[in-house]
This record gives sequence, structure tokens and C-alpha cells, in this order.
Amino acid sequence: MSRTRVAILISGRGSNMAALIGAAQAPDYPAEIVLVVANRPDAGGLATAHAAGMETAVVDHTQYGKDRAAFEAALQQLLAQHDIAIVCLAGFMRLLTADFVLQWQGRMLNIHPALLPAFKGLDTHARALDAGVKIHGATVHFVAPEMDSGPIVAQGAVAVHDDDNEATLAARVLAVEHRIYPLALRLLAEGRIEMVHGRCRTVGVQAPDGTFVVPDDQI
Ligand code: GRF
Repeated sequence: MSRTRVAILISGRGSNMAALIGAAQAPDYPAEIVLVVANRPDAGGLATAHAAGMETAVVDHTQYGKDRAAFEAALQQLLAQHDIAIVCLAGFMRLLTADFVLQWQGRMLNIHPALLPAFKGLDTHARALDAGVKIHGATVHFVAPEMDSGPIVAQGAVAVHDDDNEATLAARVLAVEHRIYPLALRLLAEGRIEMVHGRCRTVGVQAPDGTFVVPDDQI
């Protein structure tokens, strides 16, 4: 089986990266992670990637000043050298220009810790708590030029507990992130994502039955 060649872009601890690397260790997983790139030399995920035997690279954005195009050209060169077919952003904290994004249209995924289109941007868990939502979650979507937008591939939801704080809620959402990112990458690598009017449909996978009510109505 020839597997789709994937690069993961990180800026931080890389737990989503680790989930993708772990999933790709299964012999029947349709994608292989061939490269991990960080835009910060101190990204904690680099050590995790090394320990997992991954090839890693750093393209330090601070070396390029305000020249986003030069930073992205260096990134693009690395991706081309490794014959990358799909890029996964996993906690990659650098805005990408429309030019770069459009070059990877339909081939670049991102994970966001909220149920998009709610809570785009940073501090999603604090804002979810402030808003008092009862259900929160995570989204994997194709990257589009506008931040935290783009066709949604997969979402996972969690209950917000009355006694949650940012950390407890983040931990519950993170567990969901680690499930939906490997799923979304698998679906993309298997060619099972169809775009219809700018929205994703998954071929051969049904949405599960059931509803999720918070607070529990089985009282
Ligand atoms: C995750 O919550 C991800 O959704 C967001 O940044 C965080 C990165 O965590 N984009 P990690 O580096 O994958 O552990």
C-alpha cells in the first residue's frame, strides 16, 4: 500500500502531532508522517517527534522578520523536498498568507479547540466558560485564507461541567482532539471527503445516531 506523505507543522507541545504519529503507526493507516516542522526552535513537540523517530526541521519565523513570504518560501521548499501531499497544522501558531493557503487548498488541515464557527481565535475554553455554553468541543477543518474558517471535516463535542475551569475543560476537549484529528486525516488520505457547495461530506461513513443533552435529562 502506498501511503500519503504528510508533514505536521507545530509551534508547541505537539500532543496532536503525537496522536497523528501514533495513529500512523498502524499498518493499515493510509498516511505516513514523514516530516515534523516547527516554527520555533523551542517547540516541545520537537523532542517528542525525535523520540518517535521522526525527521524534524525548524523554520524559525523570527529569522525572517516581517517577511512572511520568505518564511513561507522556506517552508514550501522543505515540503517540496519531502514530496509532501498533505499538511496538518497542529498547534501551529503562525498565520499563513492567502498565497500559501491557496497553494495547499484541499490538502491542508487544521485543528481548532472549539466547535467552529463558534469561538474562533485564541482562549477558546475561557470564552466558552464565559459564554456559559453547555456543549463545547473541537473541529478539524480545511485551512482557508480566513483564520479558523474553511470546510469542516470532523467535530467532537464534550459536556461543559458546572465546576469546570479552563484547565479541566481544555483537558476534556484535548482528548477529543486526539480522536478527531487522526480520523480526519484518515478520511482525507483515503479520498473519502467530498466537497459539495463548499461543505464536506464523508463517503461511506455515517454520523452516529443519538443525541447529547447537557445537563443530563435522565434524572
Ligand atoms: C490544541 O488545543 C489545538 O487545537 C490548538 O492548539 C493546541 C495545540 O496543542 N490549535 P498541541 O500542541 O497539539 O498539544
